[in-house]
Amino acid sequence: DNYYEGQTNMAKILVTSALPYINGVKHLGNLVGSMLPADVYARFMRQTGNEVLYICATDEHGTPAELGALEENKPVEQFCAEKHELQKGIYEEYKMSFDYFGRTSSVQNTELTQYFAKKLLDNGHIETREIKQVYSVDDGRFLPDRYVTGTCPYCGYESARGDQCEQCTKLLDPAELINPRSSVSGSTNLEIRESNHLFLKLPELEETVKTWLDTKYDWPGVVTGIANKWLKEGLKERCITRDLKWGVPVPFEGLEGKVFYVWFDAPIGYISATKEWADEAPESRDWKSWWTEGNDVKYVQFMAKDNIPFHTIMFPATILGANDGWKNVDYIKGFNWLTFYGGKFSTSQKRGVFTDQALKEFSADYWRYWLMANAPETNDSSFTFSGFAAMINKDLNGILGNYVNRVLKMTESKIGAFVPEGGEEGEAEKALYANLETYLANYKKYMEEMEFRKAMNELRAIWVEGNNFLTVAEPWSVIKTDVARASAILRVAINLIRVLAIASWSIIPDASAKMFELLNLDASEQPKWFEKSIVEELKTLKAGHKFNSPELLFEKIEQDRIDTLIQTYGGEE
Ligand code: 2FM
Ligand code: ZN
Repeated sequence: DNYYEGQTNMAKILVTSALPYINGVKHLGNLVGSMLPADVYARFMRQTGNEVLYICATDEHGTPAELGALEENKPVEQFCAEKHELQKGIYEEYKMSFDYFGRTSSVQNTELTQYFAKKLLDNGHIETREIKQVYSVDDGRFLPDRYVTGTCPYCGYESARGDQCEQCTKLLDPAELINPRSSVSGSTNLEIRESNHLFLKLPELEETVKTWLDTKYDWPGVVTGIANKWLKEGLKERCITRDLKWGVPVPFEGLEGKVFYVWFDAPIGYISATKEWADEAPESRDWKSWWTEGNDVKYVQFMAKDNIPFHTIMFPATILGANDGWKNVDYIKGFNWLTFYGGKFSTSQKRGVFTDQALKEFSADYWRYWLMANAPETNDSSFTFSGFAAMINKDLNGILGNYVNRVLKMTESKIGAFVPEGGEEGEAEKALYANLETYLANYKKYMEEMEFRKAMNELRAIWVEGNNFLTVAEPWSVIKTDVARASAILRVAINLIRVLAIASWSIIPDASAKMFELLNLDASEQPKWFEKSIVEELKTLKAGHKFNSPELLFEKIEQDRIDTLIQTYGGEE
């Protein structure tokens, strides 16, 4: 396996990242748990010559969307449309390379969700049952369990939620609560009403799901661990409909006015967003070829750990239960939590740094780099401003930025703003070639395996090689006695900037483009991965090729800045 086998291993890779809920702007923990690593993987796999389709969307149904709209006093359609644009804009700034960013409130998702429900019904995997639910007369609606508040019958906690008591952690039925009231309006005018709902008969599908999961021995431990825990406890029937107005309507007789449970239609959103993508250019885009079996597609999903049960059990049960040739996931990359100073990032408590705020402080590459280098892969990892600043200062400003700056400045001032001519290769180059070859091969391998922290260590090692080369070759002193040899050193050093830009592109695309611009190269397209040996690659820019005066790639974050950030966002050092 060589780092420059490049464009020979063309494969079709479908990438999806968990669909972010529509309400509110996401925090950095959300970003690193799904979209960012998916984007990095999609970019790298495209760069190395594969055909990649990266699909994401906003997850727009469910009670939180309804309540969010209520809070902002807007029709839910308008609320969702606005929030979709808001999130979409933020992800563009983070350089998420979605092929399509859709919406689960689309017509396509309604049609496909209803299609899956009919299939499951035909195949006998769905049944109607009558259930009792809390109805709020004053709110004019059924209340989901967690929107009923009351006193816990076990510990006496007065603000227990209908699904679970936060104080004693007992799972509750809202009917058990003492003095129940609506969390929407506070009204105590509640009734228990009976109505019909659909249930997915997971116990019947359990064996099929288990047999399928048993073949996934190479998935991350966090993923198989959670899936197996669920299977061990035994799957229970799950209600897949809700008494809400906002959602995908249930198309069956006797269930008029009901919608599907958000977790039933959301993963189908991966498929329907692909159809949205294809519907924009039906002549050239074939969504079914990505989503049906037998097309040699590798399908990879990215998500944080709370989403794992739905993607290892519920959604596969939907696909397997429909049993008509839909593609199931091949690899799930699951993540642990990113914490904010060891505690939770929390949307409801506004704790941590949110994606929009983060961009006002530093541009996308700073965050992309730090988050990937600290991705919570095998354990939770913790964000702190001083940790963030230390890593940015050392790696981006100190190692990478400094290298680019030194090389171009030195060449410009001692020789001129072009790739110097003449001179012989020396010993320093040999070590550089050998080390780069090893690190690039490792980097490629880890990226393909989605071992991101390991990949980032290799990338950092590649950057360090630049500085090591200068330290060993000492062009600043050689030039005093041997201009030709110094020219040869700087020629390689300048070419190395191009190599670093190509290698770093999937992680820090803006800086990579900037490096290309400094070198007078076309920065508008994704740079192809290496097709030649490193010796050859380092000869790409020929003598006489002009470059531009260097600019700072990354700023240094000083202590007073760190103090201000802590004051603004909280956290304790
Ligand atoms: O946890 C979440 O943010 C969910 N909205 C993820 C949904 S993933 C997929 F199934 F749609
Ligand atoms: Zn309790």
